[in-house]
Amino acid sequence: MPRLSVNVDHVATVRQARGIDEPDPVWAAVLAEKAGADGVIAHLREDRRHIQDRDMQVLKQVVKGRFNMEMAATEEMLSIAAELRPDLCTLVPERRQELTTEGGLQVKGNLDAVKAAVKSLNAQGIEASLFIDPDPEQVKAAHMAGAQIVELHTGAYCNAPDEASRLRLLDTLENAAKLAARLKLKVAAGHGLNLRSVRPLLAFPEIEEYSIGHSIVARALFVGFEEAVREMLDLVRQAPQVRTSEPPKRRL
Ligand code: PXP
Repeated sequence: MPRLSVNVDHVATVRQARGIDEPDPVWAAVLAEKAGADGVIAHLREDRRHIQDRDMQVLKQVVKGRFNMEMAATEEMLSIAAELRPDLCTLVPERRQELTTEGGLQVKGNLDAVKAAVKSLNAQGIEASLFIDPDPEQVKAAHMAGAQIVELHTGAYCNAPDEASRLRLLDTLENAAKLAARLKLKVAAGHGLNLRSVRPLLAFPEIEEYSIGHSIVARALFVGFEEAVREMLDLVRQAPQVRTSEPPKRRL
């Protein structure tokens, strides 16, 4: 059964809009786990625009499942990770101007640097996940970099302008997931997923985990945080049934 990890960045975004201490992403993490989520993700950005250092420290103490620190592969972040010791770190590209993480990590072309970051995380007992576009070259490079996990970027698929591109991007994700699994990488997927767009991906047994934030936080405004997590969990955990129903790709 695939797992669901909940990204709590957007709770911090609301808090930072006021510069006060609520809503607290730690509270969201507790509710996510109470609802049954398998893990919690927080992205400590270089500019600290949402998650703060204090959040990472408290989350590390409070989260009972897998705690995933999303970060850029910078010296500062690698040293914070070494002290914090999350269960895993997801390395992402980061640009100050972007609204959210816009593209996958260019592992190919930066192999030595990524390899060094993976090695430094692994030396601290932290698993390394690389957030990459569903491109076979990037998957192969992630394997060469020694990563344990690849998180396939689902943003382009979620934002596909029409049905033909959506199906094409779904095939791209499927092929990348299969290649990664053949290379013995664990496969996760995330970015932009909601209750509708996650469904076709459930047909791909290689995807072991989904990282979902914004759509859960958005739903939480109307149904509450626990219920929003539960809805997504109910869907993700149906994966084996979805896989046997035909034709999964076209069901949105
Ligand atoms: N995975 C990664 C690597 C991300 O950067 C993000 C966005 O913070 C997510 C998953 C979650 O994306 P969303 O908030 O759109 O669900």
